[in-house]
Amino acid sequence: MAKRIQIEKNGGPEVLQWVEVAKAEPGPGEVRVHNKAVGVNFIDIYFRDGLYPVPAFPTSLGTEGAGQVDAVGEGVTGFKVGDRVAYAQGPLGAYGEYHVLPASKLVALPEAIGFDTAAAMMLKGLTVQYLLRQTAQLKARDVILFHAAAGGVGSIACQWAKALGVKLIGTVSTDEKAALARANGAWATVNYSHENVVERVRELTGGKMCDVVFDSVGKDTWETSLDCLKPRGLMVSFGNASGPVTGVNLGILNQKGSLFVTRPSLNGYADTPERLQMMATDLFEVVQSGQVRINIGQRFALKDAAKAHQALASRQTTGSTVLIP
Ligand SMILES: NC(=O)c1ccc[n+]([C@@H]2O[C@H](COP(=O)([O-])OP(=O)(O)OC[C@H]3O[C@@H](n4cnc5c(N)ncnc54)[C@H](OP(=O)(O)O)[C@@H]3O)[C@@H](O)[C@H]2O)c1
Repeated sequence: MAKRIQIEKNGGPEVLQWVEVAKAEPGPGEVRVHNKAVGVNFIDIYFRDGLYPVPAFPTSLGTEGAGQVDAVGEGVTGFKVGDRVAYAQGPLGAYGEYHVLPASKLVALPEAIGFDTAAAMMLKGLTVQYLLRQTAQLKARDVILFHAAAGGVGSIACQWAKALGVKLIGTVSTDEKAALARANGAWATVNYSHENVVERVRELTGGKMCDVVFDSVGKDTWETSLDCLKPRGLMVSFGNASGPVTGVNLGILNQKGSLFVTRPSLNGYADTPERLQMMATDLFEVVQSGQVRINIGQRFALKDAAKAHQALASRQTTGSTVLIP
């Protein structure tokens, strides 16, 4: 038997239950991972509250974790029992002592990277990898706006952008978060609780505005984000922390300067084992070289996942949040 967090219906953090279930056996091509640390992400909230549909109830949650291979299914050649591994993609079920998933979704974890660091960085760091290095292919001196700059994804983005020589303007809701984003390498910050984002970006850029905007807040920031772009700039809408962007009139892209827009996801970029490995290698390099430090702002026991969700949804967290089984 094994313990896991599961939900039987959509709802608030209170629907997360700590239950005992039979230990699942890996099928052909699958691996069972004994989780040592589990990552918490905003996408877990979307699955919990119903914004994203779960395949069936009851279900566990979570797609980010690290641990040791505990059993391998038929036909698995790349991994053996005892290997240190990490993952950042579905199926749902990382919120458990054990997680069965396809071997194609696993990467070998370098000895130098601890399990908790890996669980704190796989989904968020691979996301930053594709956003900065593939979606936008940024180069030194590009100017970007990055929302939620003190959060899990944001803290990694500030450091990686700095390493690339990119000028990152980060938005945050408090002065403490602004200080953290700057300490992580943000070129400048905007506290939208008392500053006008568009005016501040105009001031900071001498009227030129941004090459790219990375917006994970969604509904509340969509128009502001478009107004922060240069003519022919790129709007990367990659999340819904305030709700999804819907009902867009494409004409707005014309009115605001022949803009480009994309709505990417990690699964769309890490869509083959080779691409996943290429992105993970890039991430492991910047972490092992010290260019990106993984900041674990909060740790909770796995059974207290509801407290972690509460903290993340109410903006009380900074950096990454991990659950320890
Ligand atoms: N598409 C992808 O591939 C992908 C992959 C990973 C993550 N994401 C997205 O990236 C975003 C960041 O994920 P994360 O797990 O690292 O979370 P996070 O940034 O640590 O936390 C979310 C932050 O968003 C800000 N926020 C703004 N409006 C909010 C609202 N109405 N409710 C709650 N928070 C709000 C808050 O920062 P302030 O207090 O500073 O405003 C909050 O701390 C999420 O939207 C997530 O869905 C997308």
